[in-house]
Amino acid sequence: MRSILVANPKGGCGKTTISTNLAGAFAQAGLVTAIADADTLRNSLNWIERRSGNLPPIHGLDWTKGIGKVKKNIDRLVIDAPAAIHAKDFQSLLKMADAIVLPILPSAFDQIAAVAFLGKIETLKPIRKNRKPVAVVANRVRARTRAARSLLEFLNQFNHAPVATIRETVIYTDAAEAGASVFDRRGSAARAIQAEWAPLITYID
Ligand SMILES: Nc1ncnc2c1ncn2[C@@H]1O[C@H](COP(=O)(O)OP(=O)(O)OP(=O)(O)O)[C@@H](O)[C@H]1O
Ligand SMILES: [Mg+2]
Repeated sequence: MRSILVANPKGGCGKTTISTNLAGAFAQAGLVTAIADADTLRNSLNWIERRSGNLPPIHGLDWTKGIGKVKKNIDRLVIDAPAAIHAKDFQSLLKMADAIVLPILPSAFDQIAAVAFLGKIETLKPIRKNRKPVAVVANRVRARTRAARSLLEFLNQFNHAPVATIRETVIYTDAAEAGASVFDRRGSAARAIQAEWAPLITYID
């Protein structure tokens, strides 16, 4: 099993969007996939409930009250962390993970908050020793905007160039409503969006 913790204490940066779409990619690739939802808002668990039986199944693990058991047959576990996570809870979830995905939005507020969080978690031994790598994902990026350029410059300055850059599109919101990911969609527009995830998926694999 490979386990990915999607975390950033900043609310609304795309943790659940990244979690559900990563899970969708793994499930479409034929891997036995689960999402452990550690957020009491249960966004990921509710997304799984909305998921059609025609789509590759994704197992939902309720970790809202604490970390639970993971069945041995799971190939990929995606852990969706809550906003405003306490250091202790982050460390508990980190124990369950092989890698961390940190979504960041192109906004000064989000960038500063994310770098402060990175600074904190980089003092933790598994991260400091690079046993558990942190992949930054630039999310909701609009191509050729000043915000996109300044996010990239900002991350480069901290040696955290994004592993993947995910554009802003209603396809994510529309798919989420149906318990689907962009990987459950067909057509050239969906394929172009799926391609943006390839570097992150390669990184994880
Ligand atoms: N790339 C994107 N394009 C368009 N909309 C997006 C994208 N990423 C996220 N969103 C939207 O932004 C909102 C917040 O995203 P999401 O719920 O994934 O963030 P979160 O970090 O899980 O939030 P929370 O901290 O509350 O758990 C949602 O409405 C989601 O649909
Ligand atoms: Mg969420």
